[in-house]
Amino acid sequence: MLKHLIDYVHTINISTDVDVKYPQITDGIILKTEHISKIFDSQAGRVVALNDVSLKVQKGEFVSIMGPSGCGKSTLLNMIGALDRPTSGKVYINGLDIFSLGYSDLATIRNRLIGFVFQSYNLINRSNIQTNVKLPAIIAGMSESEANYRSMKILKALGIADKAKQRPVNLSGGQQQRVAIARCLVNNPAIILADEPTGNLDTKTGADIFDMLKILSKRFHRTIIMVTHNPDLAESTDRTIVMKDGRIEKETYN
Ligand SMILES: Nc1ncnc2c1ncn2[C@@H]1O[C@H](COP(=O)(O)OP(=O)(O)OP(=O)(O)O)[C@@H](O)[C@H]1O
Ligand SMILES: [Mg+2]
Repeated sequence: MLKHLIDYVHTINISTDVDVKYPQITDGIILKTEHISKIFDSQAGRVVALNDVSLKVQKGEFVSIMGPSGCGKSTLLNMIGALDRPTSGKVYINGLDIFSLGYSDLATIRNRLIGFVFQSYNLINRSNIQTNVKLPAIIAGMSESEANYRSMKILKALGIADKAKQRPVNLSGGQQQRVAIARCLVNNPAIILADEPTGNLDTKTGADIFDMLKILSKRFHRTIIMVTHNPDLAESTDRTIVMKDGRIEKETYN
């Protein structure tokens, strides 16, 4: 499987670096959060999910995030991935303050530059697997035939091409996780945000996905932030950030 994954990465053109109108990805700090906090106010009470998190990530860096359940890992990824606004503080991608952008520019950044693997997959249940995977490519303006070609190639590489016409609900958790990974990669994003991307996979498949992420970072200079509960995986990333109660408790360069 790993060989096919690498082959996929080689064959998709690395065009996202140049065809995005907004931040041209250069070397150096690709991602920065400045004192971000996120407070959820609901009937159930007030939760400080993030508390003054400042972080800088280099282009091509592979960062792992660890920490107990509820410490704010997914919330942090949501802020970096422009899915939700921080209550205070700023997020910069390549020097650009992303929350200063209008809705449509922000959507473009999300679609072209960022690939997200959600903890709960977030697949569209009324669409089949192939449609789920190719949707970001279609939104990015890719032709139907190129999007079909890419989506089938990545599904094949991930060993689930035979599920292309099925709906997510008919797949196992591990298979749905692979669909979510395929969708994340289809536009060859500069930044990959992956929330426990191997949490539901068998050891071998998980190891292959992890090795592919490493290759994406080392050989293709993709920037990766991965949440994991697996200390062995975390240790083989460039840097491990440990969170606690919405804060960065510790950072280790591995
Ligand atoms: N939409 C929301 N509304 C209210 N509270 C929320 C919301 N999203 C997250 N929280 C709260 O914010 C805190 C951080 O949640 P988050 O999902 O970031 O944790 P996590 O570190 O990803 O945990 P896990 O390892 O279980 O996935 C938790 O206390 C959670 O209950
Ligand atoms: Mg989470």
